[in-house]
Amino acid sequence: MDCCIIGTGYVGLVTGACLADMGHSVTCVDRDAAKVAALVRGEVPIYEAELEAVVRRNLDSGGLLFTGDIRSAVAGAEFVFITVDTPSDAEGNADLTHVDEVAREIAAALDGYKVIINKSTVPVGTTKRVERIIEESMRAHHEFDVVSNPEFLREGTAVFDFSNPARIIIGSDSQKAAMRMTALYRGLDAPLLITDPASAEMIKYASNAFLATKVSYINAIADLCEAVGADVREVSLGMGYDDRIGFEFLKAGPGFGGSCFPKDCRALLNIARENGYDFNLLQGVLVVNREQQERMVAKIERAAGGLQGTRIGALGLAFKANTDDVRESPAVAIVKMLLEKGAAVTVYDPEANDNAAEELAGAEFAPDAYAAVKDADVLVLLTEWDEFKWLDYGRVLSAMKSPVVVDTRNCLDPVVLRKLGFTYEGVGR
Ligand SMILES: NC(=O)c1ccc[n+]([C@@H]2O[C@H](COP(=O)([O-])OP(=O)(O)OC[C@H]3O[C@@H](n4cnc5c(N)ncnc54)[C@H](O)[C@@H]3O)[C@@H](O)[C@H]2O)c1
Repeated sequence: MDCCIIGTGYVGLVTGACLADMGHSVTCVDRDAAKVAALVRGEVPIYEAELEAVVRRNLDSGGLLFTGDIRSAVAGAEFVFITVDTPSDAEGNADLTHVDEVAREIAAALDGYKVIINKSTVPVGTTKRVERIIEESMRAHHEFDVVSNPEFLREGTAVFDFSNPARIIIGSDSQKAAMRMTALYRGLDAPLLITDPASAEMIKYASNAFLATKVSYINAIADLCEAVGADVREVSLGMGYDDRIGFEFLKAGPGFGGSCFPKDCRALLNIARENGYDFNLLQGVLVVNREQQERMVAKIERAAGGLQGTRIGALGLAFKANTDDVRESPAVAIVKMLLEKGAAVTVYDPEANDNAAEELAGAEFAPDAYAAVKDADVLVLLTEWDEFKWLDYGRVLSAMKSPVVVDTRNCLDPVVLRKLGFTYEGVGR
C-alpha cells in the first residue's frame, strides 16, 4: 500500500522505515532539506537502535523514499501520516502550528480518496480540526477521512516497539477508514482498538500522564525512604511483584524528561483546566518532578560540601539511555543548575554531547567518561548508559581529585565503589 509520512523525526522516520519493512511503499517528507539530503544518502540523523539498517535496507530495495516535495508525495499515496512535532507553547498547550500547516498542504495536494492519519500527540478535537482545515483548504472536492492513530514507541527501542506494539489504537468515525487502517497494519500482532477519535486522542495523553505519575510516585517514595532509612530499590521490587502495579516506571531517579512526558502532562493539565476540571493529581506529578531535579542538585551540593568553585564530572546528558535526545532532559536541567550555582562542570554523553552543546554553553564537553571526571571533586551519574556501569572505577578514582560519587540513577554498585574508597550517594537508599 502507498504511504506518505509527513515529518521525518523520531516518530515519522521509524514509522516510515518500519512500514516499508512490512512491504508497503513509503515516501517520507520533511521540510528540513539537510535532513532529507542525509536520509537520501542513507544517513540517519538520530541515534536509534536498528534504525539505520532498516532505512538502508528499504532505500536499497526502493520501498522507501525521502523528499521535500509534499505535493507529489501526498498525491501518490493512499495513506498520509502526520508525524510532525507538537511542542509546548508558552502556556503549556500543544502547539498545533505544524499540524495545521501540514493539513493545509495535504488539502492542496489531494487528488482522490485518502486516509489521513494523525500520529502526532494532539489534544482532543484535533481530528475534527484537521478535517475542518482540509475541507476549507481543498481546491476541488475529494473524499477523505481523518483518523487518530496515536504512537506509543519509546526512543531507544523504537524499531522494536513499532513491530511489537502493546496495542494499536485507531480513532475513526469512518468504518471505511478503520477497515483500511486494519489492512495496513495486518502482520502486526497486537490488540487493535477501534474507537472514536476523541477517545483515541485521550488514550495517548492518559497513558503518558499515568506513566509520569508512576515515576513521580516512586520518586516521592524514594525521598521518604531516605528519611526513614528504607531502600527504594527494595521497595520498588516488592511493589512490582504485584501484577496490579508491575515493575515498569518504578525506578527512582532524577525525574522524567524527554520530548513527551513533560509536555503531554502540561497539555493534559490545560485540557482539564479548559474543561473545568482541576487536575490536582497531575499538577502534583509535575511539581514532584521539578522538585526531584532540585533534590538531586541539593544532594550533589551536600556531597561536595558546597558548589561554588567545585569541579564536577557529569556522566550523561540524554534524557534516558540509548537515545541522543536531550529535549527536557533532567540531566541537562541539573547540569544547568550546577553551573548557575558556581560549579565548573565537565560533561560527557556517548551520543548526546552535540545535541546539548548549545543549551550547556557554560559547560566543558569531554570526549569520554575518564576525561570528564579528570580532577573532579564529584562524579555525578545522570543518564543510565551501560558504558557508565562498566567503567574501570579504579582508573576513575585515580583521575578524580576526591573520590565522591552521586549516582542519580541508582545504577552503580555502592559495595564495589566503597571498597575502592569512594563515598557513594544514590537516590532513596
Ligand atoms: N519522540 C517520541 O518518543 C514520541 C513518541 C510518541 C509520540 N510522539 C509524538 O509524535 C510527534 C512527533 O514527535 P517527534 O519526536 O518525532 O518529533 P521530531 O521533532 O523529532 O520530528 C518532527 C519532524 O517534523 C518536521 N516538520 C515539522 N513541520 C513540518 C512541515 N510543515 N512539513 C514537513 N515536515 C515538518 C520537522 O522538520 C521534524 O523533522 C509529536 O507530537 C510527539 O509528541 C513522540
